[in-house]
Amino acid sequence: MAEKNISTSISMAPLFLLFFYFSALSLAVNITYDSRSLIFDGQRKLIISSSIHYPRSVPGMWPELVKTAKEGGADAIETYVFWNGHELSPGNYYFDKRYNLVKFVKIVQRAGMYLILRIGPFVAAEWNFGGVPVWLHYVPGTVFRTDSEPFKNHMQNFTTFIVNMMKREKLFASQGGPIILAQVENEYGDIERVYGDGGKPYAMWAARMALSQDIGVPWIMCQQYDAPDPVINTCNSFYCDQFKPNSVNKPKMWTENWPGWFKTFGARSPHRPPEDVAYAVARFFQKGGSVQNYYMYHGGTNFGRTSGGPFITTSYDYDAPIDEYGLARLPKWGHLKELHKAIKLCEHALLHNEPTLLPLGPLQEADVYADPSGECAAFLANMDEEHDKIVVFRNASYYLPAWSVSILPDCKNEVFNTAKVGSQTSVVEMIPEDLQPMVTSADKGSNNLHWDIFVEKTGIWGAADFVKNGFVDHINTTKDTTDYLWYTTSLHVDENEEFLRNGKQPILLVASKGHALLAFVNQELQASASGNGANSTFKLESPVSLKAGNNEIALLSMTVGLQNAGPFYEWVGAGLTNVMIEGFNNGTIDLSSNSWIYKIGLEGEHLNIYNPNGLNNVKWVSTSDPPKNQPLTWYKAIVDTPPGDDPIGLDMLSMGKGQAWLNGEPIGRYWPRASSVYDECPSECNYRGKFFPDKCDTGCGEPTQRWYHVPRSWFRPSGNILVILEEKGGNPTEIKFSRRRVTGVCAVISEDFPTVDPESWHKGTNGSKGKPTVHLKCPSNTVISSVKFASFGSPSGKCGSYSKGDCHDPNSTSVIEKICLNKNGCEVALSEENFNKDLCSSLTKKLAVEAVCS
Ligand SMILES: *[C@@H]1O[C@H](CO)[C@@H](O)[C@H](O)[C@H]1NC(C)=O
Ligand SMILES: *[C@@H]1O[C@H](CO)[C@@H](O)[C@H](O)[C@H]1NC(C)=O
Ligand SMILES: *[C@@H]1O[C@H](CO)[C@@H](O)[C@H](O)[C@H]1NC(C)=O
Ligand SMILES: *[C@@H]1O[C@H](CO)[C@@H](O)[C@H](O)[C@H]1NC(C)=O
Ligand SMILES: *[C@@H]1O[C@H](CO)[C@@H](O)[C@H](O)[C@H]1NC(C)=O
Ligand SMILES: *[C@@H]1O[C@H](CO)[C@@H](O)[C@H](O)[C@H]1NC(C)=O
Repeated sequence: MAEKNISTSISMAPLFLLFFYFSALSLAVNITYDSRSLIFDGQRKLIISSSIHYPRSVPGMWPELVKTAKEGGADAIETYVFWNGHELSPGNYYFDKRYNLVKFVKIVQRAGMYLILRIGPFVAAEWNFGGVPVWLHYVPGTVFRTDSEPFKNHMQNFTTFIVNMMKREKLFASQGGPIILAQVENEYGDIERVYGDGGKPYAMWAARMALSQDIGVPWIMCQQYDAPDPVINTCNSFYCDQFKPNSVNKPKMWTENWPGWFKTFGARSPHRPPEDVAYAVARFFQKGGSVQNYYMYHGGTNFGRTSGGPFITTSYDYDAPIDEYGLARLPKWGHLKELHKAIKLCEHALLHNEPTLLPLGPLQEADVYADPSGECAAFLANMDEEHDKIVVFRNASYYLPAWSVSILPDCKNEVFNTAKVGSQTSVVEMIPEDLQPMVTSADKGSNNLHWDIFVEKTGIWGAADFVKNGFVDHINTTKDTTDYLWYTTSLHVDENEEFLRNGKQPILLVASKGHALLAFVNQELQASASGNGANSTFKLESPVSLKAGNNEIALLSMTVGLQNAGPFYEWVGAGLTNVMIEGFNNGTIDLSSNSWIYKIGLEGEHLNIYNPNGLNNVKWVSTSDPPKNQPLTWYKAIVDTPPGDDPIGLDMLSMGKGQAWLNGEPIGRYWPRASSVYDECPSECNYRGKFFPDKCDTGCGEPTQRWYHVPRSWFRPSGNILVILEEKGGNPTEIKFSRRRVTGVCAVISEDFPTVDPESWHKGTNGSKGKPTVHLKCPSNTVISSVKFASFGSPSGKCGSYSKGDCHDPNSTSVIEKICLNKNGCEVALSEENFNKDLCSSLTKKLAVEAVCS
């Protein structure tokens, strides 16, 4: 609507009509773009966005997560739409609870933020089957993500369904809503060619189909190098400063900046240092970027069986700025918040001037955004991976640590350097909590719980599903309605077999496409095996006990999340491919083409006994001493709600592998599988140089995941029902809840850190210099109760293990105590009043503090 039209209407419309006219119209925003940025009603904007996936938390957490993202300096929230969570069977839609997309978008809107809606509908996302419903794989003639009519029909219908839902609720910016961008397809450019003749036509169809939805805001395609106008192709990577869109009319957008990485069961825990995340973001904006999104900002949890795979953990923490449990991860969250403030100070200069590139050294450069009126912002980069550098820019010198960017919103004062982390670190602990005894007599394990148990029958329970010579594919058979598929057969052993006498056990050899396996002979568990993140196929090789006569061989094949990406990923199978037994008089017996009896799923699952309304479908056995190391056992107990409001993790260290539920809500798969003894973790994480997922791993030799998030809103005031399905055997008496709590804070700040506070900058005191200042803040309702360590001088070490250096101001601790004790938060400047600045005069001194919150 052109402005001229509005003024004509004004002069002619009656007053009351005008009111409605404006209240509807003033909210609608016309979002366009050019090569530099998105343009909102004619005004350029630079967008910092944060991925939060609604089904990876619960509605009760959404407002706080969104608020924490906003406080962290984000303008927008980005989410995928999870097709297989919404269209449970063709035309049968679900939008309740964690899947209430409209509610999520409205929470973002109420927080005054924008939203980027990545409809996909293929999403990858380490999500089961990449987000596409498994049923669609079995619609005849369907091939995912190519020129396949059934796929395109269903994809178009779902996309249209979501778009119409958003339109109905007036959620697009063109209707006054928060949605400023929408996405179709995802990272297809990298594999388009693998799809041959079907590839490009499909990508072009997807773009046209999206445009035909007429949503009034721009469409984007991530990593789609041939995105047709006006669809904008965007970058997904650890670094996108060198990215160029495929047309000079499109702005440079970064839809996935990975501030960490996901985990797989049995692997180490990846971490991306905050200095490097900030470096990548600063370089992106230095080089003309205008929309940047953290994937993930809050990773959350793959509840139930939603994790992709195989082997992706239930935790999707991602080392993101907000941790899985919803707490700000410090210093990452705080460091990026400071970065965002610094970038926003440059917003106008960046978006309204062409950059001038100024070499400052062999691996040092400035980009200066200036206009004749005096507006000027500069980014000074040191791309050297090893050496710090002093550079001269506009007659002033700047100290640039290796692999860092300094931001100068007035081309003079450094307000931020990506490698100087002034934000506090928090000490986060998982504090064990009793599960609260319901029964206090002798009827208790060490966690004081009274357990009821139900033991699954090994092999075929009820009637067999079918019998077949040879093997079927696991996924084709279960269609992912369950993780479990029984393959059973019988084997006759002649009494003349030597192994019956010489004690040499025959060897069972099983080959499987994936993902995990339990092998039973005559109802006894013999062995287990599984693939790993790099390779889902595996072989099991184990001695087995066979008796003379008939033996029942029962092999339980298990999936651990379905493939979520890669060309033709939906055709990757699972399950047994070969079964042999070695060590008979005649040599090796091949059972592969035997007659196999199949059963899909477990009885307890079938009877829904993890749900409060299905609990009574089996006869539970009440026990004072729950069995340990017993495979295929369901455990049930009544648990109280842990007091307080700290987030809760279920500690499953003592268990083997399985699934858990609270009050019928799916906590997810647990598997405290430790990383391989061959894995190595660096003793120091060097933020300098290009990041890759295993660069800064921790947790070598430890379980990849010990604690499982149980959202507070799933608890009732009392009488909560915890149900555990243990597959291979564990010790339930050691199961506990733990409260996730910030118990301390640390900070290190140096005399050469930037001294300009971006807050005061806004108030018009450009360039006014203070002193570098430590900001300490404990969680609300707690105070700094003691100072564990403080040293002004040359302290070294990490939070939790600081030590004094040769240079140390003996008054350090008393100064911090005087300012901070018994306060929720405090600020300590590196000033002459506080510290002896003449100490070890030539040295650039720093202050390290560790304090206890309670
Ligand atoms: C939005 O702005 C563009 C560019 O100014 C203009 O061409 C277009 O008509 C506007 N759209 C609406 C719905 O006002
Ligand atoms: C898509 O939606 C249309 C219109 O609602 C319907 O006629 C058609 O059967 C749907 N197609 C599929 C594949 O579900
Ligand atoms: C830098 O110094 C030179 C010589 O002193 C002077 O001519 C020039 O104007 C200065 N430049 C700036 C940006 O201040
Ligand atoms: C699953 O079944 C389909 C036929 O419905 C077949 O084409 C496909 O190869 C099977 N997949 C595997 C992994 O065996
Ligand atoms: C061993 O092989 C011989 C010759 O093929 C066969 O007659 C006999 O039945 C086999 N014995 C067993 C126990 O399979
Ligand atoms: C420590 O503080 C006291 C008084 O508060 C002062 O007299 C003394 O000089 C300080 N010591 C150092 C090393 O600064």
